Amino acid sequence: SANTMWGGRFSAGPDAIMEAINASIGFDKRLASQDIAGSRAHAAMLAATGIIKAEDAAAIDTGLVQVLEEIEAGTFTFSTALEDIHMNVEARLSEIIGAPAGRLHTARSRNDQVALDFRMWVRAQCDAAISGLDALISAFLAQAEAGADWVMPGFTHLQTAQPVTWGHHMLAYVEMFARDRSRFEDARARMNECPLGAAALAGTSFPIDRHMTAQALGFDRPTSNSLDTVSDRDFALEFLGAASICAMHLSRFAEELVIWSSAQFRFVRMSDRFSTGSSIMPQKRNPDAAELLRAKLGRILGATVALFTVMKGLPLTYSKDMQEDKEQVFDAADNLILGLAAMEGMVRDLTANRAALEAAASSGFSTATDLADWLVRALNLPFREAHHVTGALVKLAEDKGCDLADLSLDEMQKIHGEITQAVYSVLGVQNSVASRTSYGGTAPENVRAQVARWKEGL
Ligand code: ARG
Repeated sequence: SANTMWGGRFSAGPDAIMEAINASIGFDKRLASQDIAGSRAHAAMLAATGIIKAEDAAAIDTGLVQVLEEIEAGTFTFSTALEDIHMNVEARLSEIIGAPAGRLHTARSRNDQVALDFRMWVRAQCDAAISGLDALISAFLAQAEAGADWVMPGFTHLQTAQPVTWGHHMLAYVEMFARDRSRFEDARARMNECPLGAAALAGTSFPIDRHMTAQALGFDRPTSNSLDTVSDRDFALEFLGAASICAMHLSRFAEELVIWSSAQFRFVRMSDRFSTGSSIMPQKRNPDAAELLRAKLGRILGATVALFTVMKGLPLTYSKDMQEDKEQVFDAADNLILGLAAMEGMVRDLTANRAALEAAASSGFSTATDLADWLVRALNLPFREAHHVTGALVKLAEDKGCDLADLSLDEMQKIHGEITQAVYSVLGVQNSVASRTSYGGTAPENVRAQVARWKEGL
């Protein structure tokens, strides 16, 4: 039989396959609470503006509260024939309260309704991402504070470069995740305009009050162009963009954790809570959570590309293509929020192996730059010449199989006669990091100052 919501001009119902491809209820049921909040605000506004009677609005409101309770209790029966969450809710409302239910959809379309529901859902995910990031940032700050002066190798090309502090490395991630946080805040502020009242695409001839519904639903203002409103999914794309960058950051630290926890590095020990064993190799402690976090960007960026591809070239205004927006965003948001929580747990539990970090920092001639800088400062050599002299000293140490600090003063003076005993003061890794006090540099005193600054800001 024909659909009761729009079947006035239809004599036959849809084919089963048509119903299967058309229905979104399987996934957009996740928008139920936003849908009902939007409908309650809409009904209250219709009554306040005299478009419907107060007693009808009251019946609608009571009925919608009951529908939400049924959905939350799991007693609601979702119907594929009713296509989506909007029609499922309205059909049940009409079973509960009868005729007044038919007045709810006055001055509204599913086009502005879905734009509203989805925007509110994405807005809530921005909030969830922001609080997940706050927790993660505070976990990194705790590591940075504890290890402000622990020395570790800093890498370029994954080759030992110069000694840095553990705290400085942790604070690098604080910077990244704080930028992510501000991206979600920016996106949230930009999306916080209310689509409700754009109706199908052109607005409505009813004397609605869009400012009233915008305010009731926590928006800063109503959107200003009805055509843009029903065809815009920028808010979801911005969320996905911010989520992709954030997941990229998660993947980078995840990769460092995988490397650092290997037997070859032994820089860190992951807690039992965030490691798994092997069913065959009893010695194994696998960093599964870190590996999964390394991978999550794949699906989050995939969702981003998918939604861009759906939106590309769509003529104004709403097209059913846009129903393909939700599953991607749902999946990306779920994985991002879970990923942030998992990373927070791993970082909180993480134990740095200070001895291994310091030993690694001391090997690989990591203080060669300090030696070159000393030649510039103490002997007034041009940096290029200092670089050359240091290169010769490194080669000598390499040939002897020792560190720079193990070369005797005699040996050093054979390469440059003016080198003095004072050179040894810059060859220790502790001296090296302590000297790097330039703003943004790795010195422990800088790390402590930055930790204090971040803690004030949070
Ligand atoms: N289920 C639809 C979606 O997710 C809701 C809007 C449908 N509007 C329409 N005119 N068919 O996009």
